[in-house]
Amino acid sequence: MTEPLYRAEALTRTFTTSGRVVPALAGVDLELARGGRLGIVGESGSGKSTLVRLLAGLDRPTGGKVWFEGREISALPERELGFLRASVQLVFQDPRSSLNPRMRVGQIITEPLRSRLVRRQLPADVDHQQRLAEVLAAVDLPPDAADRYPHEFSGGQRQRIAIARALAPKPDVLIADEPVSALDVSVRAQVLNLLTDLVTSAGLTLIVVSHDLMVVRHLCDQLAVMRAGRIVEAGPTASIYADPQQDYTQALLAAVPRIRSTGRDQS
Ligand SMILES: Nc1ncnc2c1ncn2[C@@H]1O[C@H](COP(=O)(O)OP(=O)(O)OP(=O)(O)O)[C@@H](O)[C@H]1O
Ligand SMILES: [Mg+2]
Repeated sequence: MTEPLYRAEALTRTFTTSGRVVPALAGVDLELARGGRLGIVGESGSGKSTLVRLLAGLDRPTGGKVWFEGREISALPERELGFLRASVQLVFQDPRSSLNPRMRVGQIITEPLRSRLVRRQLPADVDHQQRLAEVLAAVDLPPDAADRYPHEFSGGQRQRIAIARALAPKPDVLIADEPVSALDVSVRAQVLNLLTDLVTSAGLTLIVVSHDLMVVRHLCDQLAVMRAGRIVEAGPTASIYADPQQDYTQALLAAVPRIRSTGRDQS
């Protein structure tokens, strides 16, 4: 039996703000094998972002446990989470706020390479400029993009920059929280196709949060449906699409527009 890459047991996160107790995550169990592609869907406020923040070690559970490569990360102090920071990279919803507007793209992408934590992932003598050129090419941006600032790019291009930055340290896992929902509908398919290609060619484990079921259908082989801090339905994406067991899942699927844009506009 091989250890799953991620395992969570009764994972709980309760927030208390001004006396109000919010059970953002109310007991989640999950397993994800290396190379798996997990989609997390559910209505707004169901706990999707809270869950992935715990998996990324950006937040701590108030109950339950999470293991990465067999190590219980929920029990480790921050200073011992270096291996996780190196192995797991994130892409967020809005590249406008996740990219530093005062840094040139080249600097944005190579900055994580300077981190002591990612050295484990890369050969000690890795050439930052060469890695920069590689990841820019991988996300279909021209080499001279490196010298420009984020505001000089379109939304779709900025998300490509965020993806390039995430790939630069050669992570094992990519976690994307609503990676295309801030983008124009016309460029979403392109960015999704790009993510699919990159995840496949690098053999990454992928966790994608989206309230758009088309996004996870495109990218993920497994699905977890969340509601009110719990996973209410989970399994292979294809079987959940073919035969959703919960009314809630059926309602989510029914809300997906039937007509899909197949446009492949430039972005
Ligand atoms: N830092 C926080 N402090 C207080 N409450 C929080 C915090 N983070 C999340 N919550 C609450 O926890 C619940 C789950 O939030 P979460 O952001 O995980 O939902 P989500 O599924 O990602 O929603 P969305 O689709 O809108 O992004 C919500 O009720 C939210 O208000
Ligand atoms: Mg969220």
